[in-house]
Amino acid sequence: MTTSKTAPKQYDAVLYGASGFVGRQTVDYFAKHAEVASSGLSWALAGRSKDKLEAVRKASGAQQAGIVVAEAHDAAAMDTLARNARVVLSTAGPFALYGSELVAACVRNGTHYVDITGETPWVKGLIDQHHVAAQRKGARIIPFCGFDSIPSDLSAHLANAAMQERYGEDCVETKVAFSIRGGFNGGTLASLFNMLASGQSDAMADPFLLNPSGTRPTTAPAHADPIGPRRDTDFGAWLGPFMMSTINTRVVRRSAALLGYAPGYAYQEYLRLGKGPVAALAATSLSVGSFTSQAALRLGPIRQLAQKFAPPPGAGPSEASMDGGSFRALWVGHSASGKMVRGMVADKGDPGNRATTKMLCESALALALQLDELPGGRKHGGLLTPASGLGDVLVQRLRAAGMTLQVDPEKT
Ligand SMILES: NC(=O)c1ccc[n+]([C@@H]2O[C@H](COP(=O)([O-])OP(=O)(O)OC[C@H]3O[C@@H](n4cnc5c(N)ncnc54)[C@H](OP(=O)(O)O)[C@@H]3O)[C@@H](O)[C@H]2O)c1
Repeated sequence: MTTSKTAPKQYDAVLYGASGFVGRQTVDYFAKHAEVASSGLSWALAGRSKDKLEAVRKASGAQQAGIVVAEAHDAAAMDTLARNARVVLSTAGPFALYGSELVAACVRNGTHYVDITGETPWVKGLIDQHHVAAQRKGARIIPFCGFDSIPSDLSAHLANAAMQERYGEDCVETKVAFSIRGGFNGGTLASLFNMLASGQSDAMADPFLLNPSGTRPTTAPAHADPIGPRRDTDFGAWLGPFMMSTINTRVVRRSAALLGYAPGYAYQEYLRLGKGPVAALAATSLSVGSFTSQAALRLGPIRQLAQKFAPPPGAGPSEASMDGGSFRALWVGHSASGKMVRGMVADKGDPGNRATTKMLCESALALALQLDELPGGRKHGGLLTPASGLGDVLVQRLRAAGMTLQVDPEKT
């Protein structure tokens, strides 16, 4: 492994939003990471409150880490922060409210950036505004580096690589079936409510919202969001709609365009309900429930009522509940000639916290420590996806961190 230090910057990595629910976990992850210590990586906690940041640093025992105080809407402070960092990792969300100045500053200063947003309309705006400038600056701006959407993006990446390696063919279709056990953070629900309130439901419904212009396939039905239950023979199980799929599918489709997957490549994902009549009933109930709840949450008064009962920003599941969580994403890829590859991405711990923290921090460390090995080489930049911006380096880092990313699991 090479440490890739270029122009001298004060910090190799700055963790912005470090006082938040996920932010605190990223600080603990960096504080305990053997490679962070052994590589001599310099890093800092950043956010708007000095007192909160100092308390988080003290609790993590990372007294060697710096502190950077910067309010999200203060363009000058964002500029100073980005100028002094090689990599910025952000957990300050809702990102549509607190993320735009920071991304703009990273692009201006050629600073690499990762976050855990799932706010697709916000990212669409970033692509329109910054993709070309980030390419020119060689800045890798990589949103969606949490549970949204790394398991999906790397499943499609692994399926395509396995199909090529084994059969010398492209995948024309990849399907992923998720099983999850986890809770919701107040910050996640605040981001969802903010996205719905911003009136961008139509944008969110566009299956190719994040695609570069001119890369929309003409075949529509294979890309429409699934709404009903289905019995899938590849998985041998009943599947229903997966609530994160309207985020993840858009990200994978951008990867497909950036990485040159097969023309018309189709990607879909589902929640796996199991086998037998009870699973069939569950898949049907889920389909009706998710359709109804999505429609209901678009209505202001119902959304306001739901907000009253949601945990506030800064709150989230208990430590025991986060330790007891897990996710499993089974994937299947097909080629045009009928070849099939299958595999699994999985991890223990709450997907939106434990796994998200691991995926985000390893993404930032890939940028900080292995820049020369990343897809496209040192100078590559743009509004990228996890697969197109971090690729196999991230796969290897996550495996080393204990996550399962497998081709041909023994039993799916
Ligand atoms: N992709 C995934 O799987 C995944 C999983 C979990 C969360 N998320 C997303 O990650 C984000 C954070 O979630 P969370 O649960 O950690 O939320 P949170 O606890 O509410 O944290 C939000 C952070 O934003 C900071 N912030 C708020 N206003 C700010 C401002 N004006 N200037 C600077 N910083 C400001 C807060 O600082 P203070 O502490 O000073 O208030 C806090 O550090 C959300 O958008 C959520 O949707 C994604």
